[in-house]
Amino acid sequence: MKPIKVGLLGLGTVGTGVVRIVENHQEDLVSQTGTPIEIAKILVQDPSKQRNVAIHPDKLTDNPREILENEEIDVIVEVMGGIDPAKTYILEALERGKHIVTANKDLMALYGREILAKASEKGCDVFYEASVAGGIPIIRTLIEGFSSDRITKIMGIVNGTTNYILTKMSQEGAAYDDVLKEAQALGYAEADPTSDVEGLDAARKMTILSTLGFRSNVDLADVSVKGISQVSKEDIAYGKQLGYEVKLLGIAERQDDYISIGVQPTMVKKSHPLASVNGVFNAVYVYGEAVGETMFYGPGAGEMPTATSVVSDLVAVVRNLKLNNGGRKSFGTYKEKKLKTDEQ
Ligand code: NAP
Ligand code: HSE
Repeated sequence: MKPIKVGLLGLGTVGTGVVRIVENHQEDLVSQTGTPIEIAKILVQDPSKQRNVAIHPDKLTDNPREILENEEIDVIVEVMGGIDPAKTYILEALERGKHIVTANKDLMALYGREILAKASEKGCDVFYEASVAGGIPIIRTLIEGFSSDRITKIMGIVNGTTNYILTKMSQEGAAYDDVLKEAQALGYAEADPTSDVEGLDAARKMTILSTLGFRSNVDLADVSVKGISQVSKEDIAYGKQLGYEVKLLGIAERQDDYISIGVQPTMVKKSHPLASVNGVFNAVYVYGEAVGETMFYGPGAGEMPTATSVVSDLVAVVRNLKLNNGGRKSFGTYKEKKLKTDEQ
């Protein structure tokens, strides 16, 4: 059987998990698609660096041309992060007819429309399940699971790093700076953790969820943002005395043609299920006119949970390739209109 060849951009926390899952679950993957998946080449900054997974040195390169110009590579998995050069590589790969899987919420929140338009023009797939809530398949759920409904509200904890910090501060009285360092060491935080603690990472995720959930063009600038860097141990202790836990919540609501979207530290009553979402876990409530209230829970960051979503996207691409149906199944290619915010 001829394998589907994948070019992996990045071999950090998520890329390492992708290599492990493709290797360890190969039999299961083949049973679903009938085709082996081979990671043919991996782009890194420093090929001489010690890796946490066994990789033949010939597979590593610091030259993107070896992947982008390789005609045998059908799919690019982008897990390097940041806007550029990730955006440039993805657009070039699409131009060359390669399908894309990415975990990059920064890119999809800011340039998702441009990337999806190029994918549509070239008949390629773009999947980005891992960009929101790590191992929870929330994007697929919003698009496929609620296609019959009209979503009115999306609310939840969508950043693992800040939930880890708030949990440790609440349960162990730990110091903010120490726990942030732990979250970085565990691979939960972004390369620049400012985007986690200042709420920007959660805002990017709420932009993606709202765009897909409300089937509308939502811009990052539509989201009001406040992070947790000003939340003190005393705030948390005081909240606990009154029966509350502090959580960084993202809330997106739609009323008729208006939306409001915000991310901010919020006092959550201890009896509410979100108050018990601890550590790196995320939880997302989705409210639909017909279905009512639903809740999705799981690990929101980290190597293996995030890689699970990435490799599931890879399976979706391979299935589409087998159906000779590429380009018609990218997440969110139907967006047309824009809802109004209060400022408009
Ligand atoms: P990471 O550990 O920092 O790894 C980044 C990888 O990309 C490294 O292997 C690095 O090479 C490579 N890289 C970075 N810039 C490069 C460049 N200009 N040229 C070539 N290679 C480059 O990042 P990560 O935590 O795996 O995150 C990757 C992406 O997944 C980000 O978009 C992040 O937001 C997203 N994500 C992460 C998580 C998580 O839990 N970590 C969860 C969901 C989504 P070297 O190894 O040689 O330095
Ligand atoms: N830094 C992100 C978080 C990674 O902590 O949630 C997962 O998107």
